Amino acid sequence: IIGYIMRKDLISILDLDKTDIFRIFKTAFQLKEKQKKGVRHFLLEGKTLGMIFHKPSTRTRVSFEAGMYQLGGYALFLSSSELQLRRGETIADTARTLSRYLDGIMIRTYEHQDVQELAAHSSVPVINGLTDREHPCQVLADTFTIMEKKKLALDEELSSLREMKVAYVGDGNNVAHSWIHMAARTGLTLSISSPDEYRVSQEVLKEVGEFRVSVFLTPSPREAVRGADVIYTDVWASMGKEEEKRERLKVFGAYQVNRELLSFAPKDCLVMHCLPAHRGEEITNDVMDGEWSVVFDQAENRLHVQKAIMLLLMGRDTR
Ligand code: CP
Ligand code: NVA
Repeated sequence: IIGYIMRKDLISILDLDKTDIFRIFKTAFQLKEKQKKGVRHFLLEGKTLGMIFHKPSTRTRVSFEAGMYQLGGYALFLSSSELQLRRGETIADTARTLSRYLDGIMIRTYEHQDVQELAAHSSVPVINGLTDREHPCQVLADTFTIMEKKKLALDEELSSLREMKVAYVGDGNNVAHSWIHMAARTGLTLSISSPDEYRVSQEVLKEVGEFRVSVFLTPSPREAVRGADVIYTDVWASMGKEEEKRERLKVFGAYQVNRELLSFAPKDCLVMHCLPAHRGEEITNDVMDGEWSVVFDQAENRLHVQKAIMLLLMGRDTR
């Protein structure tokens, strides 16, 4: 272990500094390499992660659970509908109780403040597994994937990322917000193209205002992808926004990631999507299955990067 993460929790990419991100990536590269060679080590032996889900999940749930198992620990799936939370027990009391049993808590929910409250009242690390506002673990795994695919050198300054341009096309949602945070932390260039009504939050933009960030907003997807190393997209209606789907479909058509849009980007541009995808909406089949696409590498890297995160947050002896 090359040093732990400074803060107790990982609720936002803004909780991390450059050194933390460097440590996560370095550890993830090592863990991935070891796993590919079949080397096992049980660095979290005897530790338990509780995973609270208020929304569905395939990748997050399975990668955290498998990752914990691979590190010698145990992961407990806690569906919110089966917890006393549903019957009105407070988040604070839930946090106080779970802290007595567990070594870490991962939570996926709606309100970002709920995760902050859980963390404020728990003595063990809390990891954000997606809120309406942010999806930090996703964008950490995605940035790691870019480094891997573009064969970028990893130094403590993360200087190679400053050469990268990511074009985010589509809904200004939780994933887009975490990209803004990543741009602030690493200096990568981010160009975001969304319909006017679905732009990223002003509050998130203000949060990074103090950094000299290269975040550009443009209504034109073609302009966004010009010179991009990566084109990134996500669903047009996130979890919890399903009832707006019909309305959204009317304005998002021009934001589809398809072959035509790719013709405005460099030939070696990567196409990324956090998944699950709505094929034929935000991304076409041929692009998602084409040679640009690294979507399943991203999905795989959730495992390696989250193992690193858990190790660097929960590996400390706190008891
Ligand atoms: N990308 C992602 O978080 O996927 P799940 O919703 O399947 O966890
Ligand atoms: N923006 C999507 C991401 C899913 C992983 C959602 O919140 O549903």
